[in-house]
Amino acid sequence: MNLWSLKQNGYDPKETIKNGNRFLIANGYMGVRGTVEEAEPVDLPAINLAGVYDQNGDKWREPVNAPYVFIKLILNGRELSLKAAEPLSHSLSICYRHGVFERKTDFGAAKIGTKRIASLADPHLIASQVSVSFAEDGEAVLIMGLCTDIWDINGPHLFDFHCKEGEPLLCEAVTGEKQIPVCVAQAVKYDFDAVETFRTNGKGIFRVLRFHTEKGDVRTGSLFTAVYTGQDDPSPSRSAELLCERAKRQGWGSCFHKNAEAWENIWKTCETDLEGDEKAALSLHASQYYLNSIAPRHRGNLSIAARGLSGQTYKGAVFWDTEIFLFPMFVRTQPEIARSLLRYRIETLPGARKKAAEYGYRGAFYAWESQEGGREGCTDFNVVDVFTHRPVRTYFRDKQIHISADIVYAMQQYCNITGDRSLLLDGGAEVILECARFYLSRMSRQFDRDTVDLVDVIGPDEYHERVTNNAFTNRMVKFCLTSALNLREQFADEPVFLKSLIQKLDYEKDWELIRDAVKNLRGPKERDGVTEQFDGYFSLEDCTLEEVRSRLCDPREYWGGDHGVAGPTQIIKQADVIALMELFPEDFTDEQVAASWNYYESRTEHGSSLSACMYALTACRIGKMEKAWELFQKTAEIDLISGGKQWAGEIYIGGTHPASNGGAWMIAVLGFAGLQIKNEELTLSPRLPKQIRNIRFRIRYRGSLYLFTVTQEGWKKETIG
Ligand code: IFM
Repeated sequence: MNLWSLKQNGYDPKETIKNGNRFLIANGYMGVRGTVEEAEPVDLPAINLAGVYDQNGDKWREPVNAPYVFIKLILNGRELSLKAAEPLSHSLSICYRHGVFERKTDFGAAKIGTKRIASLADPHLIASQVSVSFAEDGEAVLIMGLCTDIWDINGPHLFDFHCKEGEPLLCEAVTGEKQIPVCVAQAVKYDFDAVETFRTNGKGIFRVLRFHTEKGDVRTGSLFTAVYTGQDDPSPSRSAELLCERAKRQGWGSCFHKNAEAWENIWKTCETDLEGDEKAALSLHASQYYLNSIAPRHRGNLSIAARGLSGQTYKGAVFWDTEIFLFPMFVRTQPEIARSLLRYRIETLPGARKKAAEYGYRGAFYAWESQEGGREGCTDFNVVDVFTHRPVRTYFRDKQIHISADIVYAMQQYCNITGDRSLLLDGGAEVILECARFYLSRMSRQFDRDTVDLVDVIGPDEYHERVTNNAFTNRMVKFCLTSALNLREQFADEPVFLKSLIQKLDYEKDWELIRDAVKNLRGPKERDGVTEQFDGYFSLEDCTLEEVRSRLCDPREYWGGDHGVAGPTQIIKQADVIALMELFPEDFTDEQVAASWNYYESRTEHGSSLSACMYALTACRIGKMEKAWELFQKTAEIDLISGGKQWAGEIYIGGTHPASNGGAWMIAVLGFAGLQIKNEELTLSPRLPKQIRNIRFRIRYRGSLYLFTVTQEGWKKETIG
């Protein structure tokens, strides 16, 4: 079994949309969905651009999809495409090591093989190779070009198309909201005689090659497609033309090689392998690939959306997923990417201040679904009811306040693991202070009590809205407040820096308030050793998951919200108390973790891809290795096999699952291998499931690169850089 490649044999149209995610190639700048070259908008083909957003009318703002690469073959008047001709055989594959998509289809009359890469060596370049072997004589027409018939969820987003025929082809358009130019150029190289003409129509701009073939002939061509926007280049069209011409000169082989080399450089710092179960080894590689393929490497202040670059799901927005689920791998392997994720938050602080002010609070309340500039993408009606088709009032935007503290949590992780304080000096400390200030203004205290409460919030379990003292939220907030207080100690040697920051923010009075809040903020409550998720949780109806599921009238119904089936019960969507225990392990004994794990796991739907990994990580701690193994597989396989949940109410939520991808890495390294920092040294306390013979992984810590090998018998650490 090839542990770095996924192959799917046979053509099943029902798998087309999920395949678009499974076989995605991406390079941080753009994601190219894994659809075949002749795909039509119903198949959801896309080149999804990172950080370029547009809003059409009052529909949801979402990232922009660019004109995409199109190839189709017609032989003797017969269209050889999956829609028009039944293939004798068909396969799709992806090489996770180097991000190479490959397609092979035998239509009988001809076999079509394509390969494509979204170059990691040049973020603006997509290189494709097409090869056709003919099994009959005749007249062939090969159509290659750029499709402007773009699939959008809430589009269209591109207007004023200008297409220029010639070599290279050029397609220019602008976004509707901000008139950002989006330019795609395409050059081709082929090694056979053909009559070349061009065609521009409502569907795009195409080059048409007509040629005679004989049985046994093999024709090969390469396409070099360059994508630029006005957001990343002052002359996007010119740059696109120049890049595809340069790539053409260098040729497919060179582009392919450079991309492979760039991927190898990534694996040098973060490759994680396991032995003992090949499917698990492959899934772990896949998870690392998906995560690395969407990491921003071309800009130092970009973050990652909840569905990566697999499309417009979740509005291409950045959620807490990034700081809590993706960040742990990046900060321990490629701190420069972790830094970019945090720089995005630092630079979007004005957006967070604006949101806090809109709700009447001080400080920084970060967007629940953050788009460019920290703009809040989450609406008050984020779900559509499947029966009435009316929007449902949801409270993610206004009540899921843990988001600001999650960012502070990641910021502190960055400092602890890298030992680099420069991020704090350069805006990070201000973020911490402003987040703490937000919570000060968000907390409440009753007249007859000293305790401070956080009322009307949503914790990670989104099925229970508007609750009081969610244990996870309160602890996160306490962490944020303590981080603010600790800045004084952390910067004792930089008194001028802190003094001027305090002056700038007029913060002097807030220190005392924070001290009081930390002391009095309500901590978690317990019953029979089980931590209560929020005040009153234990009085909700206690029934089984199956019982709640049986109450659904439609499988796509939303379980949360006012009328959701889960709301009045103890059934939760995702890890909440268990996430708290994973993030603050020192607050709880093993017995407490075990009691809560046993209680909540059977009451968790795992309806979010963020759930299983938290349960797996804590299962490792309390020695439930069979469960940990099962949940690891579920987490790591999500984008290869199941594809995850596709609908929330009437909203399409499919795509890749970066949080699970990060979760798979965390379970392997932090769970199974038990990586920890003790006395400023990296150490392990392994608990390998019996299915695993060994795990090898690389960690960067305080500037050095280490290779760890863990076996059932022991472990070793080598310094490799
Ligand atoms: O951030 C998550 C949330 O916790 C559950 N719903 C999906 C979001 C994006 O992944």
